[in-house]
Amino acid sequence: FEHGALAGKRIFITAGPTREPLDPVRYISNHSSGKMGYALAEAAIDAGASVKLISGPVTLAPPARVDCVQVETAEEMLAASLDGIDGCDLFIAAAAVADYRPVSVAEHKIKKGSEEIMELHLVKNPDIVATVAGLNEQRPYTVGFAAETRDVIGYARSKLARKGLDLIVANDVSNPEIGFNSDDNAVTLVSADDEVSLPQTSKRQLARQLIEQIAQHYHQSTK
Ligand code: PMT
Repeated sequence: FEHGALAGKRIFITAGPTREPLDPVRYISNHSSGKMGYALAEAAIDAGASVKLISGPVTLAPPARVDCVQVETAEEMLAASLDGIDGCDLFIAAAAVADYRPVSVAEHKIKKGSEEIMELHLVKNPDIVATVAGLNEQRPYTVGFAAETRDVIGYARSKLARKGLDLIVANDVSNPEIGFNSDDNAVTLVSADDEVSLPQTSKRQLARQLIEQIAQHYHQSTK
């Protein structure tokens, strides 16, 4: 693999959902299947990179030769993302991290009461990709995703700036054929001064195109 687009590079990829527990039997989560992140891990391996895949709970088998670290919560995903980040050249955040978690986790199963309405108190989770992009020394080239249902490019651009990312992959998740849990995807790769649309295809195929594009931008940035 010495001649691949990411030969000799170390890359971290987050994938899948996080699970934020409420009590021993319940959690808050989302419909991410991990397919996009796992496909990126496979494509990065094929491009010659060594890959650490930091994965929330999914039913997929990790691709061969990938170092897969399984986590549940956003806080665990952050810790696993920072572990070894010193040697990391590129970071790609494909995970659908829960923005909020329950303020506290009940020790015992929460009982049904007589009240009709129950209130949950949530607290903001750390932003993993923004934390990585904000590292002072040894900051990897950092790529995020933006899952949006409207004004996809506009919101993606504001996330690119707000989180301090190098690139963002804008993903319209209002279309059930693409996005969460589908086999296909279609995205727009957004940089500070450019936009490249990658039309609908399988996540495996799209991941190859994305890794190719990301590698080009990365090599430009290190020139
Ligand atoms: O897993 P699949 O079923 O294959 O679906 C793929 C996908 C739709 C989940 C994927 O393509 C995608 O869009 N992933 C990002 C999902 C998301 O939650 O996006 P967001 O716009 O909420 O977050 C923006 C970016 O910040 C993402 O890179 C996200 O990983 C990151 N983030 C968000 C919150 C947080 N606390 N920490 C983060 O790192």
